[in-house]
Amino acid sequence: MTLQEAIISRHSVRKYQDRPISNIARFILEECIAKCNAESGLHIQLVTDERKALGLMFKGVSNYIVLAGNDSEDLDELCGYYGERIVLFVQQLGLNTCWAGFSAANIIRAFRLEKGERYCICIAVGYGENQGSPRSSKYFDDVAKVTGDVPSWFRSGVEAALLAPTARNQQAFRFELLEDEKVRAVSNWAPFSKVDLGIVKYHFEIGSGKDSSVWA
Ligand SMILES: Cc1cc2nc3c(=O)[nH]c(=O)nc-3n(C[C@H](O)[C@H](O)[C@H](O)COP(=O)(O)O)c2cc1C
Repeated sequence: MTLQEAIISRHSVRKYQDRPISNIARFILEECIAKCNAESGLHIQLVTDERKALGLMFKGVSNYIVLAGNDSEDLDELCGYYGERIVLFVQQLGLNTCWAGFSAANIIRAFRLEKGERYCICIAVGYGENQGSPRSSKYFDDVAKVTGDVPSWFRSGVEAALLAPTARNQQAFRFELLEDEKVRAVSNWAPFSKVDLGIVKYHFEIGSGKDSSVWA
């Protein structure tokens, strides 16, 4: 499955089969998390066989990924960006996910926080009872600002961002095409909108084929 295919097939899944992640999938997922931590400086952790943190919210879930890191201003956006990188990787592995903003994970604390670190959010992960389903979405013109012709890479980037998960499906983001093929991405204030911004920027990069140098 390519990343583009993962973007299309991913939907939030809230009911999971009561079975552990296979050893091979877990090994590969841990590797992906280690790579993201090394690149970002975040402290992302996989928690397995723990049913309390998300148990009231999602059925059958006993595994989740904790997004945490140094308590800096850009922590939420970084967690969104790298968390979604992991979400799409998990989708490629044939497992399912759902971001969980309002969970008891920060109270249960089945994970470690070093001095100066802050818990941000977590992501349920496991084998879904289903694959989730498509939901309503804003349109290109609702979230994109362009003067003149729309380059195909920019349109593809925005279309990929519109398929991204956002808290309560709020899609409170905008992409503006500037001079020299630079893009400004902003989010309106809303709960978890900074996490959302990191998520949609990752989708935009995949859809447009650009790397992070595209951001103004
Ligand atoms: C930052 C963030 C927080 C979220 N928190 C929750 C949550 O607490 N409970 C929940 O059921 N879904 C949560 N979601 C999932 C969204 O409701 C979901 O992504 C959105 O409705 C779009 O649906 P889709 O993911 O299937 O495309 C969250 C998503 C994001 C990105």
